[in-house]
Amino acid sequence: MLVIGLTGGIGCGKSTVTQLFAQYGIDIIDADVIAHKITQPGTPAFAKIVAHFGKKILRDQHLDRRQLRDIIFQQAPEKRWLEALLHPLIINLIKQQISKAKPPYCIVAMPLLLESPRVDFIQRILVVDIPVEQQITRVMQRDNISAAQVQAVMQQQVSRELRLQRADDVLDNSGSLEQLTQQIAKLHQRYVDLSVRA
Ligand SMILES: Nc1ncnc2c1ncn2[C@@H]1O[C@H](COP(=O)(O)OP(=O)(O)OP(=O)(O)O)[C@@H](O)[C@H]1O
Ligand SMILES: [Mg+2]
Repeated sequence: MLVIGLTGGIGCGKSTVTQLFAQYGIDIIDADVIAHKITQPGTPAFAKIVAHFGKKILRDQHLDRRQLRDIIFQQAPEKRWLEALLHPLIINLIKQQISKAKPPYCIVAMPLLLESPRVDFIQRILVVDIPVEQQITRVMQRDNISAAQVQAVMQQQVSRELRLQRADDVLDNSGSLEQLTQQIAKLHQRYVDLSVRA
């Protein structure tokens, strides 16, 4: 089983890319989806988060994710606390899902791939890339927020240069969706070929 790690900065197109790969029947393992599932009411992680932050972190008995995001955005120790809780759980579940994924290859979509230790289950890093200015305008449009808000998030992520340095493969998503689709068709074939040799 060939395991591809997909990453990219906010708004570069990770979700768009995973949808396109899914059309080939490729299994997509999404770290964000896993993070969401393991923090639903009734889970051990949910209980620990409520115990740590207090009931004020709840909204309609669920985690108020927006509030939680704001807290960890502004307070690095809280961010580290939450990551220390969730990261090992997420990694274990990713490994479990990889073991059940169908050949020839699967994609693990992980925003924090390059920041994470213990991602040795990934064989190739695929980066979705767009210029910084385009990243800002796309996220402003999608989330209806200001340029400054987008830039604040980008500052907490690794730089575009570092991402590109670490990449085995790069998808240039600065063009049309059609151009992206064509690049993915080629890359899919490449991964199928690589998986035969793996
Ligand atoms: N090639 C493209 N042309 C035009 N718009 C695009 C293109 N690719 C993606 N978009 C749009 O840009 C926005 C960001 O894309 P997407 O949500 O896939 O990024 P993401 O990397 O998953 O973001 P996040 O880090 O927030 O999860 C979306 O509104 C998407 O529809
Ligand atoms: Mg996304």
